[in-house]
Amino acid sequence: MTDKVLITQKIYDGAVCLLDEAGLPHHYNDSDETLAPEALRALVAEATALVCLLPNRIDTAVLDAAPHLKIIANVAVGYDNIDVTAATERGIVVTNTPDVLTETTADLAFALLLAIARRVVEADAYMRAGQYTRFELFPEMLGVDVYGKTLGIVGLGRIGTAVARRGALGFGMKVIYTANNRKEAAEETLGAQRVTFPELLAESDFISINVPLTPQTRHLFTLAEFRQMKPSAFIINTARGPIIKEADLVAALAQGLIRGAALDVFEEEPLMHPGLAQFRDRLIVTPHIGSASVETRQNMSLLAVRNVLAVLSGERPLTPVNRVQ
Ligand code: DGY
Repeated sequence: MTDKVLITQKIYDGAVCLLDEAGLPHHYNDSDETLAPEALRALVAEATALVCLLPNRIDTAVLDAAPHLKIIANVAVGYDNIDVTAATERGIVVTNTPDVLTETTADLAFALLLAIARRVVEADAYMRAGQYTRFELFPEMLGVDVYGKTLGIVGLGRIGTAVARRGALGFGMKVIYTANNRKEAAEETLGAQRVTFPELLAESDFISINVPLTPQTRHLFTLAEFRQMKPSAFIINTARGPIIKEADLVAALAQGLIRGAALDVFEEEPLMHPGLAQFRDRLIVTPHIGSASVETRQNMSLLAVRNVLAVLSGERPLTPVNRVQ
């Protein structure tokens, strides 16, 4: 069967050009509309390669409808939208886009951290509303210092380490972390200290979530964990929404268990829990833009397409997440 690539959503057009150059036929949904599951199942029937994004759930129903598929190239580092076990059983390679987005995502995590600490979004709204009428030493919107505080990183992987570097080297922060294994390099260069999860909860002034979504990390943060945090602490989530039980975050903010939160990801994207909207000064929300810089989204698209080109020409994928015989 002739190879055919299905691209489910708009990506960088320059990456699609690589398919043209390779003479690979493709169906490119460049409409900005997410393909409905039925449309995805219909289109994938002819595909030998699938380039997909987070809104596409690649479950067994999709895989059953895709008898010719050789590769699923996710344009994201996270791949919780794909049933990797089922794909592996069917001999389908799954790839992601690590590394190219590490620094960009860490930039956003830090931007959110600074913005929630210093009330930047709220201050912008105040200014635009014409409320700045005179300078005061103790204005309503006093923030808190970031410099010298304790930054707790949940998951000191690639992005977590990049966040830690910003905190330790840029802002003189003490970095503590949880991870499955000790991270000697970060301990040596950043002075990072590995602690238990309860210790991280109790000691951090800012917690940055940087773990993937797995059955173990789903609802890692519930009311019980918020209760163990300092009432002055902030939580920043640029990883995956369901790691925080959003209804419990609403309760934690309402009860003053923590000071604030900055979220780029949500439990039921693209929605956020309606209870969050009431927190104007103690919450910042952004629409899953962790890796959303022009350069990085281009590089993610290129990497996904290069994975497709490698697999369709019988070579090893560049960034596989499974091993297929
Ligand atoms: C990722 O790469 O997993 C991001 O969340 C999407 O940009």
